Amino acid sequence: MENNKIDLLIHNIGLLITMQEGDKPRTGSSMSGVGDLKNGAIAVQDGKIFAVGPEEEVRAQLAGMAITHELDAEGRLVTPGLVDPHTHLVHGGSRENELSLKLKGVSYLDILAQGGGILSTVQATRQATEEELFLKAKGSLDTMLLYGATTVEAKSGYGLTLADELKQLQVAQKLNESHPVDVVSTFMGAHAMPVEYKGREEEYVDVIIHEMLPEVKRRGLAEFCDVFCEHGVFTIEQSRRILSAAKELGFGIKIHADEIEPMGGAELAGELECISAEHLLAASNEGFAAMQRAGTVAVCLPATSFNLRAKNHARARTMIEVGVPVALSTDYNPGSSPTESMQIVMTLGCLNLGLTPEEVLTAMTINAAYAIGRADAVGSLEVGKQADIVVFNAYNLAYLPYHFGINHVNTVVKKGEVVVSAGCLCSQAFDSSAAGAAHAKAVR
Ligand code: NIG
Ligand code: FE
Repeated sequence: MENNKIDLLIHNIGLLITMQEGDKPRTGSSMSGVGDLKNGAIAVQDGKIFAVGPEEEVRAQLAGMAITHELDAEGRLVTPGLVDPHTHLVHGGSRENELSLKLKGVSYLDILAQGGGILSTVQATRQATEEELFLKAKGSLDTMLLYGATTVEAKSGYGLTLADELKQLQVAQKLNESHPVDVVSTFMGAHAMPVEYKGREEEYVDVIIHEMLPEVKRRGLAEFCDVFCEHGVFTIEQSRRILSAAKELGFGIKIHADEIEPMGGAELAGELECISAEHLLAASNEGFAAMQRAGTVAVCLPATSFNLRAKNHARARTMIEVGVPVALSTDYNPGSSPTESMQIVMTLGCLNLGLTPEEVLTAMTINAAYAIGRADAVGSLEVGKQADIVVFNAYNLAYLPYHFGINHVNTVVKKGEVVVSAGCLCSQAFDSSAAGAAHAKAVR
């Protein structure tokens, strides 16, 4: 029998930004075409968008249908749920001790070379139980949702042994099953060289290729594989070996490329047809050209450059000019980017990368969705896609990056369900209410 019921109608939307139709990443001037309309409405059925457009047209389409629940947006701005395509969500501990080192001028790579940085989080993650990792990551995922993210990528890479990498990935899987936010997993055993492999680095690369990747695949714990290609971490040749093996096994591939030194990481991303390349502050024009040819998305991480006090920024304007699709992400992690807020990234995307508010929104919706293989389901408000929707306490788009450092989210709808209301989590949307209290304990 035909379903003659609308579960949710969001009406009285002052400015509705749909991102237009299509699941291809946007490049060049099409990054500015966000499909905005005044006086809009969205009708939701079975967690998906049933109708979207001017309110009069949507209501006409619904004639004769019962509407279970109505949400008055009171003239506010409505966008697709934000997609955060690059996070290191699951980890133990925190690294506020690095702030004073940074203020003394010690560089990120020097902290790592001294056994701190990523390696100190590796210790904390190995020591943590799966339950502790779950509760801490759940707290961060709650914050991401409160700030408007409805789909989040999560990398492993703080275990660096098979068992500890699996532990992180299992936590991400459990979060995906129990939390309203969709979590897309990436295996990143090549995040740092474990201290126990000092002097026999190629052996660790072999462990990744012959032990870790096949086991992660066998257990279905990750869709993507990522490598930190950087001086003192993984070389171009090691990155090529790992990513080629991952591709062979059917993983989508990603690369942290040319963040600090120009290494040819962007060129490698193009050569291997990576779905995305991340950071890219030092990437060359040849690297951009290779990425453009391969359709690789550039995931820019301006909160990381800000927090590392980088002297330069990713050349996002050049990327857009040469036809590389640009996405934006928090890079949430305990070292280089300890923030869950996609809204601070909006501001830094405008002020430090020179993007317009429209380009910023494209970069954190449809292009971000494409970078994690979800553009067919999320990233734009169109009929048949998931009803992942944010209502902001704002009446135009520029207000979000302009008025920075606070949370503008009013309401979040995930798969048709209201999960954030008046800026607060709706507890009935969550699996276990006990987890919230336990989280407070775990992060102390
Ligand atoms: O994307 N660059 C490597 N990985 C993370 C940092 C992780 C950490 O410092 O713990 C990044 O910035
Ligand atoms: Fe990262």
